[in-house]
Amino acid sequence: MYILGGTSAKHVAGTLATQLQQPLLQTTFKRFPDDEFYVRLLEDVAGEDIVIVQTAYPDPKIVELLLMQDAVHDAGAKRIIVVLPYFGYSRQDKKFEDGEAVSAKTIAHHISLHADCVITVDPHKEHILKFFTIPAYSCSAVGSIATYLKEKEIDFVLAPDKGARTRAQEAASVIHCDYDYLEKTRIDGTTVKITPKKLDARGKNVAIIDDIISTGGTMAQSIAELKKQGAKSVSIACTHGLFVGQAKEKLLSANCDEIISTDSIETEFSKVSVANCIADTLMKTTPRIKK
Ligand code: R5P
Repeated sequence: MYILGGTSAKHVAGTLATQLQQPLLQTTFKRFPDDEFYVRLLEDVAGEDIVIVQTAYPDPKIVELLLMQDAVHDAGAKRIIVVLPYFGYSRQDKKFEDGEAVSAKTIAHHISLHADCVITVDPHKEHILKFFTIPAYSCSAVGSIATYLKEKEIDFVLAPDKGARTRAQEAASVIHCDYDYLEKTRIDGTTVKITPKKLDARGKNVAIIDDIISTGGTMAQSIAELKKQGAKSVSIACTHGLFVGQAKEKLLSANCDEIISTDSIETEFSKVSVANCIADTLMKTTPRIKK
């Protein structure tokens, strides 16, 4: 078995290789002057199980993934396991309006072409797993995030919307504290409305937990609501930290005390690794793999 780390998941691939005591596959990656990608495997993978680790975001990383899958398939790998620390396009998981592409399905179909199994972390909605035409599994980094928050003496967890409530509940059960959720209405891609609600947050060290921070709008408004209600400190945590545009500035000017993300997308805020939950899922779904 080899672990093949793509350019968008070098840290996760390296940690997985160490944890599972499997070698990293040697490769050449480069970009041509016109920015097209080039992949070459430098080792013989015929008859081997290959775990390809690549975050499918942003768009060029999806092309890189498809090329890696194709190279491994053509070279005669026995089994191809695709690990997506973050599955881009997963939020367009249905037709919200007639005529739209269901992007999660489109990308899942293409990834399924040369793969035997796929594992992803904290998908926005679990039902996207059904879009893959091969066995697909999810795992959650919420436990690892909660362990980090516990060390920071967090004593209240908040979900910014009802959809994230079970994540907050799970984190709160690890920390042994209370949790609640806010009511959020999305106006458009960059604007959300948080309906004020009485929270038991006065004097507490609060962590807001969500699956994704994209523009930071959801978190910025939730931080404002908590500060208004007298929270002592407000940290924000997510699995997938996209931090697009001015998200960082928006969050800092909302007086956020700490920003925490995983390494599913590698940023300055990646303080928790998704490698543990991926390794556990690999061991459960691929019996020959042991830590
Ligand atoms: C949506 O339901 C997600 O769980 C996140 O709340 C959302 O993606 C965050 O987006 P933004 O940071 O742009 O508010």
